[in-house]
Amino acid sequence: MTATATATRTPRSRRFLVCEPTHFAVRYAINPWMRPDAPVDVGLAREQWRSLIRAYRAHGHTVDSVEPAPGLPDMVFAANSAVVVGGRVFGSLFHAPERRGESVHYDTWFQAAGYEVHRPRSVCEGEGDLVWTGRYVLAGTGFRTTREAHREAQEFFGHPVISLTLVDPHFYHLDTALFVLDDDNVSYYPEAFSPGSRAVLARLYPDAVLATRDDAFAFGLNSVSDGRHVFIAPRAEALAARLDERGYVPVPVDLSEFQKAGGGIKCCTQEIRS
Ligand code: ARG
Repeated sequence: MTATATATRTPRSRRFLVCEPTHFAVRYAINPWMRPDAPVDVGLAREQWRSLIRAYRAHGHTVDSVEPAPGLPDMVFAANSAVVVGGRVFGSLFHAPERRGESVHYDTWFQAAGYEVHRPRSVCEGEGDLVWTGRYVLAGTGFRTTREAHREAQEFFGHPVISLTLVDPHFYHLDTALFVLDDDNVSYYPEAFSPGSRAVLARLYPDAVLATRDDAFAFGLNSVSDGRHVFIAPRAEALAARLDERGYVPVPVDLSEFQKAGGGIKCCTQEIRS
């Protein structure tokens, strides 16, 4: 057994921002998972979402909530509306016209909570593509957020922003292909990235927990870690086993209904970092 295998991981309590799936539906298709003609069990979706909130609270996390707005079926995916680092809020500008109306609701929530919101000039889908690692921002591009927005975020935060190119449309947001475990490590699915971006990740994280194709298709990379507990899709079994070997504690939460919209645990969760 290695030293990492026996390490006791320390959780840090988080503040999350979410949005109840009151108006959740699959009405349009803006990623390969979405089929407007396939049924979604809205009642089950609400129950699954509530179990995620219960799991967060049971593990000591604070959960705040934005009022859901009618006519915005993807508004439940709170991660896409902003990225907050050091109390500074970098808002969103959605790629799809169908989602553009979500930003103002989140901006209003932040303003009422006493934050100023920077509105990006170029397409930027919040934590979907801008992932804070504890030291710098890993930034996805290729399908949604632009390189221009990466530059804008670097200027805004004054933290390095490292651009990574996504190449598989199933993994159209960085948070579907990679998640942060703690300040030192990440987990990701290499095939979702261009060869150069894969090499960057290998240099930055030689000890990363790599996921299989099955894990990735089960939304296993759309996980949330508090440094010890990893809230993860139950079908990402191989990944959960690897995390367990590394001393993390997988907490399975099934959001199968949201996968029909191309979203999972992380998509439903924005972190407010004061
Ligand atoms: N239907 C939404 C979209 O395609 C899903 C967003 C998922 N969110 C995420 N953070 N990956 O925009």
